[in-house]
Order: sequence, then structure tokens, then C-alpha cells
Amino acid sequence: MRSLYCGQINESHIDQEIELAGWVHRRRDHGGVIFIDLRDREGLAQVVFDPDLPDIFATAESVRNEFVLHIKGRVRRRPAGTENADLPTGQVEVLGQALTILNRSEPPPFMLDIDDEEVGEEHRLKHRYIDLRRPQMYQRMKFRSEMSRALRYYLDERGFLDIETPMLTKATPEGARDYLVPSRTHQGSFFALPQSPQIFKQLLMVSGMDRYYQIVRCFRDEDLRADRQPEFTQLDIETSFMSEEEIIQLVEGMIREMFAKVLEEQLPDPFPRMPYAEAMQRYGSDKPDLRIPLELVEVADLMEAVEFKVFAAPAKDPGSRVTALRVPKGGSISRKEIDDYTKYVGIYGAKGLAYIKVNELAKGVEGLQSPILKFLPDEVVMGIMQRVGAEDGDIVFFGADKAKVVNEALGALRVKLGHDLGLVERGWRPLWVVDFPMFEWDEKDQRWYSLHHPFTSPREEDIDKLESDPGACLSRAYDMVLNGTEIGGGSMRIYREQVQKQVFKALGISDEEAEEKFGFLLEALKYGCPPHGGLAFGLDRLVMLMTGAKSIRDVMAFPKTQSAACLLTNAPSNVSPAQLVELGIRVNKPVKGD
Ligand code: AMO
Ligand code: AMP
Repeated sequence: MRSLYCGQINESHIDQEIELAGWVHRRRDHGGVIFIDLRDREGLAQVVFDPDLPDIFATAESVRNEFVLHIKGRVRRRPAGTENADLPTGQVEVLGQALTILNRSEPPPFMLDIDDEEVGEEHRLKHRYIDLRRPQMYQRMKFRSEMSRALRYYLDERGFLDIETPMLTKATPEGARDYLVPSRTHQGSFFALPQSPQIFKQLLMVSGMDRYYQIVRCFRDEDLRADRQPEFTQLDIETSFMSEEEIIQLVEGMIREMFAKVLEEQLPDPFPRMPYAEAMQRYGSDKPDLRIPLELVEVADLMEAVEFKVFAAPAKDPGSRVTALRVPKGGSISRKEIDDYTKYVGIYGAKGLAYIKVNELAKGVEGLQSPILKFLPDEVVMGIMQRVGAEDGDIVFFGADKAKVVNEALGALRVKLGHDLGLVERGWRPLWVVDFPMFEWDEKDQRWYSLHHPFTSPREEDIDKLESDPGACLSRAYDMVLNGTEIGGGSMRIYREQVQKQVFKALGISDEEAEEKFGFLLEALKYGCPPHGGLAFGLDRLVMLMTGAKSIRDVMAFPKTQSAACLLTNAPSNVSPAQLVELGIRVNKPVKGD
């Protein structure tokens, strides 16, 4: 129907007869001439209709925004002075010689010349098919497609097989709530949608497939945030007979090549690596944003003997931390802003946010300003100043509490200050976080949980400690972090039945429960399972980072809201009583507030 896209015409087409098809972006009537900006996914073309052709002119007069047109015409140079430098096609226009209205349109619910935030997101999601007509959305979808292609290409080249795994399956332990699907043929029984293909990809290794990948949907019923969706896409990878070093290099090469191809960006070679413990110590986070030049500094040893209990008590407790966060030039932060930051860290459970402003260090304690100076001996204060490398004009914040609270509170404050004060450096800062603990203790449930998942291998030298000292065991897991976002994670897996049983035991999973939930995996481990490992990337998160989108929803064609609903289709929705009878399900009255 068309000879080229609207957005493609340029001076090389002058005097050519062309055909275009697309949507009316806008129509302007100018002193007897009608201009239509015709739009398709590649851009806009200006089409001019003269009254010399009265029939066509009359049709052109009748079109409205978003009507779908087919036009034939001749490309010509725009008259001098009427060029539009902002438009790639702005040097030329098309003199319309034939016009067909292929379809009409109601006035659209919002204009398409808008930025993401200019229209309520609900509106955009409800009319997503129109929202997706906006050039920003098209660019993101296109980018996503190019990115997937580059990733597939890299893996295909290296002998990876793209193998599909079931969507109707059994619960997998990625730590979120499952989405369940009732079975009609086995009333009262449910499938779970996969939180990831974890167990299946391991079984494929037992089968000797050797190198697997899949761009695959995963489903997790968890609290949603800007970078989380209930269904999202992973690039999932698993290999046999490769060491973690080989796997790390393989996927690092993949990300580097993909960045070079689709963004023309060179990432560092190799990516730096950091043990989990160091990341927590210096950044309070296992996904540190290295673009922010602020670090937590341990000061517990200086505070042990002070009388100020807020600091002294955690300084003496091995499960707690006392840390300082120096903010260069932060001295200009106002009282009101400090109060706001105090509230902010409160979200993470911090009971306060002590600070010292550094006015003139040469004057010693006299040159400092803080409500806590009166509680601390001068030499302690000066010791802190020296350790954090304080300079005039700085502010130093303090966190003192259980390590978890300090890490979360000051880790988040570090990122917030970085953004608020414009300290975020430009560029891409990838990082591998390694040497994760195997388990983390949950105070509420009084039990150990896997930091990754229960199939992650412990380090060989820690196997003996699995039962006697689970907290001291490190795993063979690795996460790839980019600019403060965890974009991927994986591990070497357990491939010996005995070790898998020991890990289940450390997790408090009884033999019966292990058999019931993962019996098929334990069984498979009996039949010559090769050493294997892999990882999965969050594809949506990667696209979000690489396109600079603010929300993960902006890089998905049909995303769900924060409350896990689809405004376009109104899913989830009620089903007919007959369907429920078929499934053997009775629905209780919805609980108020649900
Ligand atoms: P994990 O649970 O770390 O590992 O997930 C891998 C990556 O998927 C992305 N991700 C998400 N993206 C959007 N919305 C979500 N709700 C969401 N949850 C996770 C993250 C994360 O790094 N089976 C293991 C991988 C393995 O061990 O091979 C797994 O799923 O970017
Ligand atoms: P208070 O004696 O409770 O008024 O606290 C004195 C100062 O210490 C205030 O600036 C508080 O914000 C701060 N503060 C209190 N608890 C903590 C804590 N756990 N960590 C860091 N600062 C705190």
C-alpha cells in the first residue's frame, strides 16, 4: 500500500511519486491550502492539498485527528522559509494527488504530542493502544526488540538452544507468592505459574542439553514498585560443565556486546567485582550505585566508650553498626531538609539521623555545628572527622542501630542525597556482586531463608558448616548490578543429591516437604546430573535503564498497575458461576478492603 514510511521521506525523493499510509497527526487550514501531518511509526510527513483538485480538497477538509489515510502524491522541496528544522522530513513536503480515508476515528482521549507525565497514567493504560502510538513508546518497543535480537544473536552464535518450559506448572521457590490456576480436570488442585523456569532449566542440564536460554515470562505476586511487575520477562540462561568464571565472562561479554550494538556504549572490560560483605559495608546495599561518590564509614570502634547511649549501645553490639556518611558540600542542607531526611530514613526503621556540619575544621570542635556534640568527647568527634576525611562545608550524617536498619536507612539516604545534590556521575557503572551468604536469618519466622534460592550451591569449603553454622556459609551466587539496579542474578547449582538434602535441612524443610515440593528434582539428581550453573537477567529492567524510562511500565506494551490490575482489559475480573462450578470453586464474599 505504501512506497515508504512517512518519517523516511527526504530530499532524495524530490519529484518522485510516492504513496503513504498513516494517521492524521494534525490538520491545518491555511488560506485555501490544507496541510496534513501524516504520521506512522517512523515519523511525520507534511502533505499539502490544493483547491485545484476540488474532490480531494473536500475530502482533506473533512478529515480529523487520528483518521487513517492513504495518499498518493509528489515530493517537493518546501518553499524557502517554510522548512522545519526540528523535523527530519522538514525540508520536503508531499503535494497530495489522491486521498482515501481508510478509517475514521473518534477524537482521541489525549493528544499524542505529550511526554509520559503529561497525562495521568491511568488514562494512558486504559487507552494503551493509543498511548503506544506516541513516538517515545514506539522507540522503546523498537529498542526492546533490538536488544532481544542482540542477546539472542550472541547466545545462538555460541550454541545455546532456545527451549520453552511450561507455564502451567508447580510452585517454584523464588520467594514471592504464586499466581495459581485452578485445574478443571483435577478439581481442588492448582497449577502455579512459574516465578522463573529455575527447576526446568536445571532438569534440561540433567538431560544433557548443555546450553539453554529462553526469553521467558515469569510471574510473581509481590508488592510492586517502580521496577517490579507481576509478570515480567527474563533472559534465562543455564549451562553445564562451565565454571563460574566462565559463566561470568560469557554473560559479561554478552552485555558488553549488546551495549555496543544497541547503544554504541563501551562498558568496562572486565566489570569490577565486589564481595557482598564489602558492598554492605561501604554502600549499605547489595546493589550499590557506583555513580554516587558517597560511602558509609564504620565508626563503631570510636563510639564504644562514649556516654551517648544512642551510639554506644550499637557500637558494642556485634549485630549492629555505627556508621558515618560524609556528604561533601552538604553543609548547605537546611534544618528543614535535615528533618525531611530524618523522616525519610524513618521509613527504614531508623530512629533518628544525627549529623555534624563542618564549618571550619581548623577551629576544632568549635568549628563544628551539631546537636550531638555535647554528648561526645572532643577527641572522638575529631577522630570521626579525620576518619571520614571531613572538609569545610561538609555535613556528616550518622546511623546507629541494628546492621539491617543502618544498611537500609543510610544505603537509601546515600542514593537520595546523590540525586538531590546532583552528585550522580554520568555513564554506566556495571558491577558483579559475589560471595553472597547462603542464608539470611528471618527474625519474624525464626528461621533461615536462602538469599538466592535453595538450589544455589554453597562453596565447597562451607558444605561442612551447612548444619552447624549456616550463617557463616557463603554461596556460589553472583548478581550483575548496573547503576544501582540488580539486572541479573544466578549461581552455580547444587548437583549432588546429598548436598541438596543438607541445604533443605538447613532451611528447615523436612524430608516430606522436600519430597512433596521438589521430589522430582531430587529424583533427577540421582541420574548423573552434571555440574551446572546459570543466571537470569530482568529484561524489562535492562530496557528501562537503557532507555532512561522512569517506570518499568513504560517499557512494556501492556503492563499492570501498582495494584496488579490491567486497566485496558479490566483483568482480573469476575467469572461466570458456571465456570466456577466446573472448577469446583466457591468464592467467599470478597474481604473488605481487597
Ligand atoms: P531472580 O529472582 O534474581 O533470579 O530474578 C532474576 C532477575 O529478574 C528481574 N526481576 C524482576 N523484574 C521485574 N519485575 C519483577 N517482579 C522481578 N523480579 C525479578 C531482576 C532479577 O535480577 N531463577 C533465578 C535466576 C537463576 O538463578 O538463574 C531467578 O529468577 O532483574
Ligand atoms: P536524641 O537524644 O534522641 O534527641 O537524639 C539526638 C540526635 O541523635 C538527634 O539528631 C537524632 O536524630 C539522632 N539519633 C537518634 N537515634 C539515632 C540513631 N539510631 N541513629 C542515628 N542518629 C540517631
